[in-house]
Amino acid sequence: MRAILRIRRFNPEQDSKPYWGEYTLEDIQPTDRVLDLLNRVKWEQDGTLVYRRSCAHGICGSDGMRINGVNRLACKVLAKGLTDGDGDAHVQIEPMLGMKVLKDLIVDMEPFFAHYRAVLPYFVNDTPAPADGRERLQSPEDRAVFDDTTKCILCACCTTSCPSFWANGEYVGPAAIVQAHRFIFDSRDVAADKRLEVLAEPDGVWRCRTIFNCTNACPRDIEITRAIGEVKLATRRGAEKQREAMRKEHAK
Ligand code: SF4
Ligand code: SF4
Ligand code: FES
Repeated sequence: MRAILRIRRFNPEQDSKPYWGEYTLEDIQPTDRVLDLLNRVKWEQDGTLVYRRSCAHGICGSDGMRINGVNRLACKVLAKGLTDGDGDAHVQIEPMLGMKVLKDLIVDMEPFFAHYRAVLPYFVNDTPAPADGRERLQSPEDRAVFDDTTKCILCACCTTSCPSFWANGEYVGPAAIVQAHRFIFDSRDVAADKRLEVLAEPDGVWRCRTIFNCTNACPRDIEITRAIGEVKLATRRGAEKQREAMRKEHAK
């Protein structure tokens, strides 16, 4: 089959504005991924095309981009899913929205990671290690309440599909809230209150208008809007009470 690609191009050193680059690839396989198609365009037709990628297996989160109008990982989208009536794959590729384009499909991720860092996305507990010196134990029930949010790979597909983020780039965004959720509800962590303080600020969790774009965009199928709802409740009733309510909910 054939692939017909339109790729948003922009080189700030020579272009005054972005434009569409058009490319046709013959003899592609239905199981080729969009990342394979981008590689072929770069290697066979135009070596100046740039994009980020690393693992090619949906794990590193580096190749988030807008594919046919939806944020996806290029390494997870197959050509056979992008055909229309004529049997060719028609693929439109753009950088993710709401972040400065540095070149072609590469956006400046620094503001995204600044929001991520703001929620203390790491385990905090300075008390002495348990007597055996090895690990702080946790029950399977306590682990279950934040299991879903441990799957985040920081691809930014959620945050850059969020209308609240497009309207106000200061909004901390769904990805940072997902990361905060992972630690707020970890029974071994002691910094939940600090994270909730950050998230109760005007640019925090209440900017979420529950539009669900983020959940639809997540390549890890994380229930982001649900996680955001749980964090919202925790800003009102405290992490411990909310964790208890979630434990009961999971036990049902
Ligand atoms: S649910 Fe909230 S965070 Fe997700 S896209 Fe909608 S407004 Fe943004
Ligand atoms: S929550 Fe999902 S979409 Fe958002 S950064 Fe994490 S993996 Fe990507
Ligand atoms: S290249 Fe790593 S997630 Fe796609």
